[in-house]
Amino acid sequence: MEIKTVMVIGAGQMGAGIAQVCAMAGYEVTLHDIKEEIIEKGVFAIQQNIYRAVEKSRMTEVEAEDTLQKICTSTHLHAAAHVDVVIEAAVENMETKTNIFRQLDEITPKHTILATNTSSLPITEIAAATKRQDKVIGMHFMNPVPVMKLVEIIRGLATSQTVFETIEAMAIKLNKIPVEVRDYPGFVSNRILMPMINEAIYSLYEGVASKEAIDNVMKLGMNHPMGPLTLADFIGLDTCLYIMETLHQGFGDDKYRPCPLLRKYVAAGWLGKKVGKGFYEYS
Ligand code: NAI
Repeated sequence: MEIKTVMVIGAGQMGAGIAQVCAMAGYEVTLHDIKEEIIEKGVFAIQQNIYRAVEKSRMTEVEAEDTLQKICTSTHLHAAAHVDVVIEAAVENMETKTNIFRQLDEITPKHTILATNTSSLPITEIAAATKRQDKVIGMHFMNPVPVMKLVEIIRGLATSQTVFETIEAMAIKLNKIPVEVRDYPGFVSNRILMPMINEAIYSLYEGVASKEAIDNVMKLGMNHPMGPLTLADFIGLDTCLYIMETLHQGFGDDKYRPCPLLRKYVAAGWLGKKVGKGFYEYS
């Protein structure tokens, strides 16, 4: 199946990045969110990235203009009426996602593939909100999207082989490397990463070491490019909490219990880099 038009739902850190790489690969993109000012922020982030690429001679000015012109915006889900693929990157919450998928199932043409960038939620359950379970699939990008090579591709129970192959080919066209993963909570990436981050937060909570010390141990001792608390700030502490809750609920094992300190930070609105404050402060 040939894909020409893509809609990205959610213009946050992931949605903006996904819209950017889709436009760079030549797709016509509609970037959707619930509020105009959020979309403006998302488009601004894309422009900054593209202009930086021109400065570093990774893109010509003409290519930059072409890319930016491929992105239009909308606060109405009805803009999905003419797209071939939707990639949903709204908040990591099952009710929000199933609501969006239920509406998309009504609005989009029969052939439209509905993909979700969920970090941890069951694809099969999201698909069950639609009458096209064969056309629902997980397409899990990594943060920051323009930089990171991996896309986890997750089939729901009913996802068709054609849809899987179409999305796999699309990921390659986006200059990414697709890896197939089965539909279990957190897939592979967050099943391994998030308990490590949660354990780092427990180490801080129990006073084992300072935040800087915890990050330094993992950077200098394990050769991680950034420490787990910094990484948590970059991911978003609300997203980290949602993922830990999904793992805890999905596996029913207490080893996935979210750290109370993580809950406290989220309750305080200290969600990490995107709001300027998490474990660290950002200007
Ligand atoms: P974010 O908080 O930056 O953005 C989420 C966006 O969704 C917000 O702009 C919000 O206004 C919008 N939104 C909320 N309800 C909506 C609705 N009903 N319709 C349309 N838009 C709506 O979150 P982020 O980090 O971009 O995460 C988005 C998704 O990507 C989540 O499912 C998350 O688990 C996943 N993800 C996140 C990664 C990360 O490192 N932050 C990595 C990979 C996946």
